[in-house]
Amino acid sequence: MEPSPSLERYRELVKLIRELDYAYYTLAQPTISDHAYDRLYRELLELEQAMPEQRDPDSPTQRVGGKPLEGFDSVAHAMPMMSLDNTYSRDELQAFLQRVAKWLPDQSLEWTVEPKIDGVAISLRYEGGVFVQGLTRGDGTHGDDITQNLRTLRRIPSKLKVETGTAPQVLEVRGEVYMSRAGFLRLNAQRIARGEEPFANPRNATAGSLKMLDPHEVAQRPLDIMLYGLGQCQALGQAEPSSQVSLLQSLQTLGLPVSPHHWLCQDSSAIFDALQALELLRPELDYETDGAVIKLNALSLRERVGHTAKAPRWAIAYKFAAEQARTRLRAIAVQVGRTGALTPVAELDPVHVSGSTVSRATLHNAEEIRRKDIRQGDTVIIEKAGEIIPAVVGVVLEDRPADAQPYVFPTHCPECQSMAQQVMAASALGVGWRCPNPDCPAQVRARLEHWCSRGAMDIEGGGAALIEQLVARGLALDVADLYRLTQAELESLDRMGEKSARNFLEGLKASKSRDFWRVLFGLGILHVGAGVAKTLARHAGDMKELMLQSVESLMALDEVGEVIAQSVVSWFEDPQHRRLIARLEAHGVAMLASSGQAGTDASATGLLSGTSWVLTGTLPSLTRQQAAERIEQAGGKVVGSVSRKTDYLLAGEAAGSKLTKAQSLGVKIVDQDAFLQMLESSAEA
Ligand code: IVH
Repeated sequence: MEPSPSLERYRELVKLIRELDYAYYTLAQPTISDHAYDRLYRELLELEQAMPEQRDPDSPTQRVGGKPLEGFDSVAHAMPMMSLDNTYSRDELQAFLQRVAKWLPDQSLEWTVEPKIDGVAISLRYEGGVFVQGLTRGDGTHGDDITQNLRTLRRIPSKLKVETGTAPQVLEVRGEVYMSRAGFLRLNAQRIARGEEPFANPRNATAGSLKMLDPHEVAQRPLDIMLYGLGQCQALGQAEPSSQVSLLQSLQTLGLPVSPHHWLCQDSSAIFDALQALELLRPELDYETDGAVIKLNALSLRERVGHTAKAPRWAIAYKFAAEQARTRLRAIAVQVGRTGALTPVAELDPVHVSGSTVSRATLHNAEEIRRKDIRQGDTVIIEKAGEIIPAVVGVVLEDRPADAQPYVFPTHCPECQSMAQQVMAASALGVGWRCPNPDCPAQVRARLEHWCSRGAMDIEGGGAALIEQLVARGLALDVADLYRLTQAELESLDRMGEKSARNFLEGLKASKSRDFWRVLFGLGILHVGAGVAKTLARHAGDMKELMLQSVESLMALDEVGEVIAQSVVSWFEDPQHRRLIARLEAHGVAMLASSGQAGTDASATGLLSGTSWVLTGTLPSLTRQQAAERIEQAGGKVVGSVSRKTDYLLAGEAAGSKLTKAQSLGVKIVDQDAFLQMLESSAEA
């Protein structure tokens, strides 16, 4: 029998939300906005409620989401870290309050309202008043041990403020690590200047920072923390709280940072007042908050109410609606990217939303436009929810002009008229189209602009206006052509005086001795961002060596998976690209890693060549990143988890589950001393 349409939709949603969870929790690279996610999640919940017998036991509604990251030890939480049910509606919030009141008929209830901090949930463990371990939430039962990274946060005290002899035996405190708005903007500005991808929002920046393997790098990130709850506790002594309000007070007394804003409410009208006060306060706060958390104040009553598999029954998150605005969609423009991707963009009547004027919004891809039936001339709803780029979330059908026609995605590239090719997008969210013509002027322009950009070859004066003229006049059709330009040719262009022409030529000359990774990044090979370019440059040492690499040898590198390796190898297989490299070389563009980057010699012949390593625990004097670099320089490979294929476990202090697993599999275990000895003999070889 065919599955019913709702069952089919249910299965589709389970699959989609799993993928979205993976992108969000594991990769820290969400593919859609929180609001779009919440809508899908809610649809899934409703379908499950309508047909409970069909519920997939492994449905995303049954888990908190998120798997431990590779590279950190996974540790069991002494008490599970739960999530919260959430709502956007006042009615549902009322219903929640009434539900709890019904379970506790004999009580007059007090509630607290706190900002819901939009960051990453963590748990800190203090033993005898000393900070001993910090874990991420992970899947709720096991989290990643990120103690070393958390130690870099100044506001996490390494010792609790207590009088001698009165420290709680065990105190686990829970809270949120976040990045201030100002810190986030600064960090992104630095990343853009270095040619790295900016983070989409402060929460992603926080998640990305906490999963870095080198605590020294984490220390550079503007991370902060606020605590709001308890995990396992033993012998709290004077710190023993009876309510949320006294808990926040105790935490503060112990020297732990808590939110300066919270409200104690006796009834629902006080709760709604507090919500309103918080919403007014929201723009003033230096961190992002996407709503409020409403909690039963008395801890003893919480125990009576209990929890579900996923969340406590005594608390709920009330989320603020993302700021939306209505405006007219003037037209749908199709942009051609550096790699030929055709991206539809909404051109809008300018409208003010979340503190800025918006006149363009992303439409993602053709499938998205079809699904939402977005037409030119429509009144559309746009939303900006903490993300940088606003999105079109819906159409106001009542306002649709009578003559608005369904949008037909162009079958041809709007720039060069080549027939568009369909590509399967990486996510389940839809398929995309691309212009297959590498000589398409839009692609040529985008490639030249990218080459000149600050993050790549950093060529002064090589902005969009100049590039447009160079391409339109046929003076430069690829990046090697730039190095043939003459003073006279440049001076013949509009808005180009003698001085700016000379400056640009100087800039080109200076670019010839840039680091190899900048050349690699500047070439615009699909999937090769600045980070991967650095890895490739360090590994290969020079262009000749890189061109000899196979998919397998590249995949052996940390950070390089099959998709990237394939992309690099096939880029260099293209004869036109090989000629381009030869011409750049002939113009004197250096393609050699500076000595600090070279890695060929050691890695090809190093004694660790062909061995696979896992790192765990804290080493006496090396950070994990330093140890990993040494291993790679000597030809070894670092992987995240122990398996039968692992040759060595490099174990430091407080090694956890990886050590046990390595012992059970008979993997060789070495400490830092033994490791350094191996490296010395490797260097002599
Ligand atoms: S209380 C049993 N209070 O929101 C879980 N959570 O969407 C109790 N969050 O997992 C959580 N601010 O990571 C609580 N003031 C606050 C919060 C807060 C942010 C996060 C937390 C939680 C998530 C649920």
